[in-house]
Amino acid sequence: MLFTPHTLGSLRLPNRLVMAPMTRSRAYVAGIPSPLTALYYAQRASAGLIVTEGVQPSAVGQGYMNTPGLHTDEQVAGWREVTDAVHAAGGRIVAQIMHAGGVGHPDNTGHLPVAPSAVRLGEQIFTPAGLQDTPVAVELSTTEVEATVGDFAAAARRAVDAGFDGVELHGANGYLIHQFLSQNANLRDDRYGGSVEGRIRFAVETAKAVADEIGPSRVGIRLSPRNGAQGLVEEDAHEVYPALVSELAGLDLVYLHLLATGGAELDARIRDLWPNTLIVNDPTATDPAASAEERLRWGAHLVALGKSFLANPDLPVRLRVGAPLNEADLSTAFGGDHRGYTDYPTLALHPAVA
Ligand SMILES: Cc1cc2nc3c(=O)[nH]c(=O)nc-3n(C[C@H](O)[C@H](O)[C@H](O)COP(=O)(O)O)c2cc1C
Repeated sequence: MLFTPHTLGSLRLPNRLVMAPMTRSRAYVAGIPSPLTALYYAQRASAGLIVTEGVQPSAVGQGYMNTPGLHTDEQVAGWREVTDAVHAAGGRIVAQIMHAGGVGHPDNTGHLPVAPSAVRLGEQIFTPAGLQDTPVAVELSTTEVEATVGDFAAAARRAVDAGFDGVELHGANGYLIHQFLSQNANLRDDRYGGSVEGRIRFAVETAKAVADEIGPSRVGIRLSPRNGAQGLVEEDAHEVYPALVSELAGLDLVYLHLLATGGAELDARIRDLWPNTLIVNDPTATDPAASAEERLRWGAHLVALGKSFLANPDLPVRLRVGAPLNEADLSTAFGGDHRGYTDYPTLALHPAVA
């Protein structure tokens, strides 16, 4: 089943394998992707779909060092080289729009992080001076929340201008959209907080604004129910996620990218509520091929793999022929040069096959 084509909006995917979004912190200082980034993604163009690393929609949306953005003309021009390279290699690529919210540090970005409420998220974060404690975030005013919705829509427009096939909204792993969903990072008493309806409002308004801007058939969203990233608490996830997924389904977004972190019952409930393409990423999977097949049988249409794609530019053909896989070296995951980025060998160069 992994090698059966799938239709995603106007895209025809040749296989069911999605390259999961992975921050690599190798952008130029102004948030512009480098030519090496174009090579890195083009090498992985045989994925059914590539989801880029998290890309900030605004300067204040950046949290980590050397991450790329989609809020200046120079960044759009840099991404154009990436999308052209991927398309020339026969691939398809969407940009993951990631606002880090309260996870950040002024030494990385020049500003204090902003969040739904003035809380401290995460514990420590890498900065040019090494690991430092994360600061208490600045609470966004209601007007600023509304403006942030607009920043996502503007970044989506820029993504299309840069030649991306669509965007994925990062609603997972403890960043801004997820912070709004949680009980401990969102202590607001305006319409973006409080009840379940209030806490899902930012995600829903953002998805709607982005869908209105570029069309729902080019918009997906990633969610990670209850995964506790950055210290988020979601004791009422069984109420929040069904409510959220129902609203998102009403917007007709082209895909939901679910990290299978909600537990069997909640994950199945989300699957059953979602009418369009469902991508699943199982962070506990050990055998990529076997677990991918199992997830397709479970009801996913596509399966996302992260570290396996990082280390294996030609992952689909390797899984197809049962070839050995390179192991990801996580010491070169964030920052640095071509080493551990564009120099993983393809099958023909693998010592076991050569
Ligand atoms: C180096 C690295 C960077 C990551 N950056 C992101 C990111 O920017 N956005 C995101 O949604 N997930 C990010 N993730 C999580 C992956 O998308 C994926 O969910 C996780 O690695 C589990 O899947 P895997 O076991 O197939 O790698 C990152 C993971 C890794 C290893």
